[in-house]
Amino acid sequence: MGYAAGSLGAVSTSTDGSATSTDPPDAIVRTDDAKALPRHLLSAGDLDRAGALRILDTASRLDQAIAGREVRKLPTLRGRTVVNLFYEDSTRTRISFELAAKRLSADVINFSAKGSSVSKGESLKDTALTLQAMGADAVVCRHPSSGAPARLSSWVDGHVINAGDGTHEHPTQALLDAYTLRRHLAPGGSLEGRRVVIVGDVLHSRVARSNVLLLSTLGVEVTLVAPPTLLPVGVRTWPVQVTYDLDSALVGADAVMMLRVQRERMGGAFFPTEREYARSYGLDSRRAGLLARYGIVLHPGPMNRGMEITPQVADGAGSVIVEQVANGVTVRMAVLYLLLTGGLGDGA
Ligand code: NCD
Repeated sequence: MGYAAGSLGAVSTSTDGSATSTDPPDAIVRTDDAKALPRHLLSAGDLDRAGALRILDTASRLDQAIAGREVRKLPTLRGRTVVNLFYEDSTRTRISFELAAKRLSADVINFSAKGSSVSKGESLKDTALTLQAMGADAVVCRHPSSGAPARLSSWVDGHVINAGDGTHEHPTQALLDAYTLRRHLAPGGSLEGRRVVIVGDVLHSRVARSNVLLLSTLGVEVTLVAPPTLLPVGVRTWPVQVTYDLDSALVGADAVMMLRVQRERMGGAFFPTEREYARSYGLDSRRAGLLARYGIVLHPGPMNRGMEITPQVADGAGSVIVEQVANGVTVRMAVLYLLLTGGLGDGA
């Protein structure tokens, strides 16, 4: 399957659905100027600490700039075209990118594989060349194959943003998560030394991979908790702690990030029953109470309520799940702004 993917190795899945191997690591391209951002945002590993903080700080400024306005729009990207190229179902990510681009006054084209020439067999490359001919300044790409946005970036002149590729990465999700963590745990400051627990289907999660890369860049101590069957081959080489015991990992932690159990990517049985999974790896009120007093609960959505998280916790006081959605728009505005303008103007 798929295209060459990067750093933490996306899962290759055999026809029976079991994980077979990880893809070889790609070199992460960094520029000499620590503050420079990459041309494309394909992996959270493309960002060094200064680059990541620049995006988070720009998002805060954009948030402030828009907060007081009657018309919640800035003229910054007027005349630019952003194409949302979605080969996989998505609600919040596509709408989030669309809103972000519109709030910066860009023209937005939503292109979904369903109902397009893709269903007539058009290849990703031909689609890319068509978008190129139409003058897309940025292409936001979601694709079921790991590495597809990276391939796309070699065919178009515009900036490519990975909006989730297979089991590989979802860098803007990690950025919005970091933005949310920072707002609650270290307003305007550093997340260095904070402790975040990521729980669940790590094997199939591009959200987990991007978060591990970004949070470790930001100095966060990450603990992964999952049943052994839902941990990728090679996880012991990641810059994280790994445990199977959720309760002990949660004690005193600053935040917990629950992952969706990705049934659509599971061919075989990865755990005995849903009840059994919920009992060992689900977040209920008792477990949420083990976090630090100010501890927060994150979930990228969509949630399987009653499986990885109980409704009481999802809707409870420590939950920032709805806020994550709002922060997603702000952070994606920052990414579009910085990539498309080079961040030279003050835009906000
Ligand atoms: C995530 C995704 O698509 O990777 N969702 C999202 O972007 N909001 C997580 C998931 O689907 O579990």
